[in-house]
Amino acid sequence: MRVLITGAAGFLGSHLAERFLTEGHAVIGMDNFLTGAEDNLFPLQDDDLFHFIKQDVTKYLYLAGEVDGVLHFASPASPIDYLKLPIQTLKVGSLGTHKALGLALAKGARFMLASTSEVYGDPQVHPQPEDYRGHVNPVGPRGVYDEAKRFAEALTMAYHRCHDLDVRIARIFNTYGPRMRLDDGRVISNFLVQALQGGPLTVYGEGDQTRSFCYVDDMVEGLYRLFLSDVTEPVNLGNPAEFSINELAETVQCVVGRELEIEKQTLPTDDPQVRQPDISRARELLAWEPAVELEEGLSRSLPYFRERLQTRTGE
Ligand SMILES: NC(=O)c1ccc[n+]([C@@H]2O[C@H](COP(=O)([O-])OP(=O)(O)OC[C@H]3O[C@@H](n4cnc5c(N)ncnc54)[C@H](O)[C@@H]3O)[C@@H](O)[C@H]2O)c1
Repeated sequence: MRVLITGAAGFLGSHLAERFLTEGHAVIGMDNFLTGAEDNLFPLQDDDLFHFIKQDVTKYLYLAGEVDGVLHFASPASPIDYLKLPIQTLKVGSLGTHKALGLALAKGARFMLASTSEVYGDPQVHPQPEDYRGHVNPVGPRGVYDEAKRFAEALTMAYHRCHDLDVRIARIFNTYGPRMRLDDGRVISNFLVQALQGGPLTVYGEGDQTRSFCYVDDMVEGLYRLFLSDVTEPVNLGNPAEFSINELAETVQCVVGRELEIEKQTLPTDDPQVRQPDISRARELLAWEPAVELEEGLSRSLPYFRERLQTRTGE
């Protein structure tokens, strides 16, 4: 197979590209480095089957030759990024998805959308199954990401219905691991960096809001299986093990082997109170479920964070 992965210089895109290469497929990575990093491409660049194109996917997309898959992963993904880049986020979810779908259609390729648990907004149903329609504030600051992804899903299904395009929609829940940006503002990167610097750990609100955290290797396995499957309806991919932010703070302290102070700060607007995937569909249709537990995943991520922090600051 020969696949295009947009957002290939990002956290998930680079791991996914690596997986396709490991399976012997050719990968064209595309990215404009809006939130990604060239460093993430280093492990891929020596592979003859990897080719990189620096391009904004909201612009006209052209690729010579056959393409069997278009995996659209380009988008700012962490709240800190999409709050800072609201228009780029809306554009990559709308125009970028349109361009990526157009390319897939022109090439007769399978299309996969990296959607998100944020399509459920601040959910009133818990855990969230795929048929839950969500609770999103379209005009709140987070609406730029949530609505962009909801539009992207709608457009994907329109191409499926009108043009019979072969599509996959992955609703990705919080994922973590090596190659996350140290300053991406996500709770796991924040905690690991703060813990390596000796604390304190910043907890927003009371810390009783919950999240589910999926280790990147598990996520990539789920994404790969979904891409190869024949499932066209959206599929939740994430780890259903639910932790409060306070529990996460405790686990991080265990992993780094030190007790740290906790500093409480005000909860951001529209921050979801609960977040947990119902992965029955993925279990049934993809025979997939996460295998890496939180403590293990954090231990596997720590060396990367330590090394990046040392490179950045000499700490
Ligand atoms: N990481 C998660 O926990 C998570 C959760 C849910 C959904 N997702 C989705 O998965 C995808 C990847 O997320 P990530 O965590 O790897 O984020 P990331 O920011 O690390 O990667 C996104 C990549 O997209 C690129 N990009 C953004 N706009 C672009 C444009 N217009 N043209 C070309 N490239 C562009 C960025 O430069 C970056 O390299 C996103 O679509 C995101 O919405 C991720």
